[in-house]
Amino acid sequence: MSLDLSQYIASYPDYPEPGVLFRDISPLLEDGAAYAQATDEIADFARERNVDMVVGPEARGFIVGCPVAYKLGTGFSPARKEGKLPGETQTVTYDLEYGTSSLSLRKNAVKPGQRVLVTDDLLATGGTIEATIELVEKLGGVVAGCAFIIELNELNGSDKLKDYDVLSLLKY
Ligand code: PRP
Ligand code: HPA
Repeated sequence: MSLDLSQYIASYPDYPEPGVLFRDISPLLEDGAAYAQATDEIADFARERNVDMVVGPEARGFIVGCPVAYKLGTGFSPARKEGKLPGETQTVTYDLEYGTSSLSLRKNAVKPGQRVLVTDDLLATGGTIEATIELVEKLGGVVAGCAFIIELNELNGSDKLKDYDVLSLLKY
């Protein structure tokens, strides 16, 4: 039987600052059946797109992407905040609501032509996922799909993903 995953999302008004309604996936992660269902739904989406590698941005992109990669039998590579990965890396800088941030990916993480699923917990403005996509594409990977547990409609992150197949398990 399929669970209603929206029952496993907590909402916190005025966190981390006044006026923000923060959607938290923690209850979903803390429930084995709900976490498994979310993982299975994303893995099905990836299988339909012949994904052979998964990449997710720090930190919650790891939590979503790693079990999907395990299910698919593919590798997973973390896109980390700059300065956290040893060896040769590719780095991109992207805009946050206030200021900028940088994400890096190991240069060997993605082989040219590999079909990559990009995962994160939540799509807000789309800056984080856009940077992750840019990293994958700079290494010659093909972004076969982007998958999120939550998409926040009012921040229009999907406008940045018009050229990609997107799965959002829940939309607010
Ligand atoms: C949050 C969230 C996404 C990103 C979404 O991560 O987990 O990665 O923001 O926002 P965007 O679509 O506007 O880019 P955060 O930047 O808080 O990093 P963290 O998970 O390392 O705390
Ligand atoms: N929840 C979790 N992460 C976020 C959110 C949110 O509502 N908005 C931007 N990043």
